[in-house]
Amino acid sequence: MLQREVAGTTIAVCNEKGTIHAFLGMCPHRNGPLGQGNLVEGCIVCPWHAWEFSVEKGELDYNPGIKLQRYKVVIQGEDVLVEIA
Ligand code: FES
Repeated sequence: MLQREVAGTTIAVCNEKGTIHAFLGMCPHRNGPLGQGNLVEGCIVCPWHAWEFSVEKGELDYNPGIKLQRYKVVIQGEDVLVEIA
């Protein structure tokens, strides 16, 4: 997991089995820093209260109606580009 600030937006970036994903880095529970959490068996685990979100779908494990905002990722050489607009 990585956390980056881009144009005032906090981004959580993770590498799940070689695929890079990017999400809004603020947990929908109480704005915990998802990019400072852990990636466990395909889930992002928030460091504050351990809510777990599927990387594949961005959904909270026990309430799929709560989803993370996902951003498009483009890999250019060694650079990871995240489209936040
Ligand atoms: S702020 Fe993320 S689980 Fe509470």
